[in-house]
Amino acid sequence: MGAKRFGGLAATILAMTLAVPAFASDAKDDPLAAYRSGEMYSGYVTGDPSSREIQDDDMMNPSFLWVDKAAELWTTADGTAGKSCADCHGDVESLKGAATKYPTTDAATGKFMNVELKINDCRERQMGAAPFKFESDELLGMTTLVKLQSRGMPMNIDITGPNEKWFKKGEEFYFTSRGQLDLACADCHITNEGMYMRAEKLSQGQPNGFPTYRMKWQKLGSLHRRMRGCNDNIRAEKLKGLGEDYLAVETYISWRASGLPVETPSVRK
Ligand code: HEC
Ligand code: HEC
Repeated sequence: MGAKRFGGLAATILAMTLAVPAFASDAKDDPLAAYRSGEMYSGYVTGDPSSREIQDDDMMNPSFLWVDKAAELWTTADGTAGKSCADCHGDVESLKGAATKYPTTDAATGKFMNVELKINDCRERQMGAAPFKFESDELLGMTTLVKLQSRGMPMNIDITGPNEKWFKKGEEFYFTSRGQLDLACADCHITNEGMYMRAEKLSQGQPNGFPTYRMKWQKLGSLHRRMRGCNDNIRAEKLKGLGEDYLAVETYISWRASGLPVETPSVRK
């Protein structure tokens, strides 16, 4: 891990980010205030127009191939309990709003989970089935199906209580420079947000559109895959998808996204 090289600047940036929920002070009346004011935005805004056009049209968005398969899986019994998701949850619409609060500490097990891990928790504990593999079509599709139920609803992460240490760990990670290029996530997604890096305009690096269909991947991909790409680009030590580091960073950036509407499934170049 690289040394912390944010001094006074870091403090300023940190104060600015810490002010996020504060400038969403109208949050009680309008949870989407920061989004409407344009202070907070996703890669949809900085992305290229053709990706936006595809994202705007569910019939054109290839992500829905995965969503359709996941809808079939939702009603398919699996595991030793012989149950399907639908047997317990009924219509998938019953999960409306659920995704906005993840990652969080799971009430049933006390473990810290994002949506992917919660789906796998149900598979293991409730169904007696094997967890879906990281980045498998099944896990990507089911995660997208679950998050889709919250589309348009503001992200709303709780960073108090048992979640606090994950938030702190993720924040620390975000502002720590690392890798051969000695860069922190914040260098690109806060300090240089809006600037061009080669042909790409740097966004705030928000998580609210994931899983995303990326042209470069020619498939749907998870937030952890995207973060891993950024982390590998700065030639930092490789980290595991769904591992603790990325889970912590996901917590920090999901909190930073407070008030941004869930956009899953987004489309990016
Ligand atoms: C050298 C600059 C750089 C660094 C450092 C960097 N990224 Fe990125 N990141 C990019 C670029 C370029 C993109 C694609 C354009 C965009 O959305 O900003 C991107 C995209 C993203 C996205 C997708 C946003 C969207 O709406 O599609 C996320 C999330 C993200 N980065 C998170 C991170 C995290 C977490 C870190 C630290 C591990 C990090 N990035 C470090 C350059 C960087
Ligand atoms: C045997 C019943 C059962 C089955 C089958 C089941 N679940 Fe669950 N699920 C629950 C219960 C009970 C909870 C809430 C308490 C808990 O987590 O134990 C829950 C919670 C969840 C949550 C979190 C909801 C929230 O508001 O935080 C998600 C997401 C979820 N399940 C997805 C799934 C998916 C996807 C499947 C199929 C792969 C599935 N579940 C299968 C019983 C089940």
